[in-house]
Amino acid sequence: MSEQTNTENFFLRLHRLGLIRPFIRFSLRLRKVILQGVHYNTDMVTNQLTYVDFVTDSFKERTLPQHDFQSKSAFEASFISLADTFHQLFGYRYSLPVSQGRSAELILAKVLVKPGMVIPNNLLFISTSYHQTLAGAELIEIPVVEAYDLISDSPFKGNIDTKQLEVVIRKYGKEKIPYVLIETAVNASGGHPVSMENIKNAYNITKEHNIPLILDACRLLDNACLIRQREQGYSHKSLKEIVMEFCSYTDGCVMSASKNYYIDTGGFIATNIEQLFNQFMDVVMVYGDGLSVRAKGKLNTAIKYPFKNERIINDRVNITSYLWKKLEEAGVPVVRPAAACAVFIDTYQLSEYIAPDQFPEKSFLVHLYLKSGILGSENLITTGQGRKGIRMVRFALPLRSYKIRHMNYVAKHIIQAWKERKQIKGLKKTYAAPCQSGQFMAQYQIIE
Ligand code: F0G
Repeated sequence: MSEQTNTENFFLRLHRLGLIRPFIRFSLRLRKVILQGVHYNTDMVTNQLTYVDFVTDSFKERTLPQHDFQSKSAFEASFISLADTFHQLFGYRYSLPVSQGRSAELILAKVLVKPGMVIPNNLLFISTSYHQTLAGAELIEIPVVEAYDLISDSPFKGNIDTKQLEVVIRKYGKEKIPYVLIETAVNASGGHPVSMENIKNAYNITKEHNIPLILDACRLLDNACLIRQREQGYSHKSLKEIVMEFCSYTDGCVMSASKNYYIDTGGFIATNIEQLFNQFMDVVMVYGDGLSVRAKGKLNTAIKYPFKNERIINDRVNITSYLWKKLEEAGVPVVRPAAACAVFIDTYQLSEYIAPDQFPEKSFLVHLYLKSGILGSENLITTGQGRKGIRMVRFALPLRSYKIRHMNYVAKHIIQAWKERKQIKGLKKTYAAPCQSGQFMAQYQIIE
């Protein structure tokens, strides 16, 4: 029997036995088979085959317990009720629910971007970047300089450089800038927040030039939580008050709902500008919103939940910083300061032992999974970061999924894997489909 068929039979057997579900710790021998089965591409190891899954904090990729947010009335799912909830929580006058964050990004780019335009930003997520560039725009990355410094303890490394913003606006003019895009709790640089002061200053500048300021509000609650911890004057405010004020300094947002809300599908595009909203609606009419009535009802409940139960967000921030501290104390080069939704490790040092063309980050993730069943991911960085030689791995903690006792196990194994970094073998890429997303399904071999 070929190796391929062997692996397939093995997976089928596990399914039949009902063994495939999270929190099963496979033996070292089985993890070896799993890694061979996915050709050492850790992106292909599923949630069910992972003991502790830190690949993403997105519930889009996971199985949620069935009993949550089950029976929803038609009213809760209605356009009127959902828009009303969104308005009450975030303050935007107009909003549309969509299937996920990237659908909102597509609508935004389709409506506003023309070839030759430029989009000033504070480092964007990869899908957000793709939509802008596919529509013909050039991204102008102008985060504060500390964003590129992984060891600086500066509290708001997600900030946009407002001086640079003025320079860029003066250089290109309003006609070439459809909007300024600011991500909250910026994933690419290590989950760093944008301060209230910064968004307010950026808004004053964009308003003066009549350019819309749009948020990627994917991790807006994480951002609000970090503002409460770090910015003067916010320690006694509720998440709702902070979020409301933050959004009031913007003209609209695109949002993935599956990171900060306990829901596995959905997102929003919202704005205060009526004409813009009408254009968004036209795109949705052509492409659809991708949501069932039931999904809209669930969204309506899910987005209210963390505002009433702030613990869901606070607990995760505390667990993340617990793990971060344990790794930091053991000398693992964590990206500083701690973020809310993930621990990021600066993997620059790995290239001393594994040649850069032998995929040091992936090799480290393969080694860690093999030894412990823990799965992380390479953090998706921007072109500008890549040029500066920045590389990270990310251990993302989904809401309500892990407890401190899991973190002790996780910390022990990440620390051990880091200590073993000199012995980790590199990888050779043997296949990748010739398309942008080919790398996510690429195949590798261990270099012996
Ligand atoms: N914006 C940010 C900052 C994101 O992190 C993501 C997705 C999106 C937009 C797109 O949202 O998944 O609903 O289409 N991030 C996931 C992650 C995939 O693992 O970081 P989506």
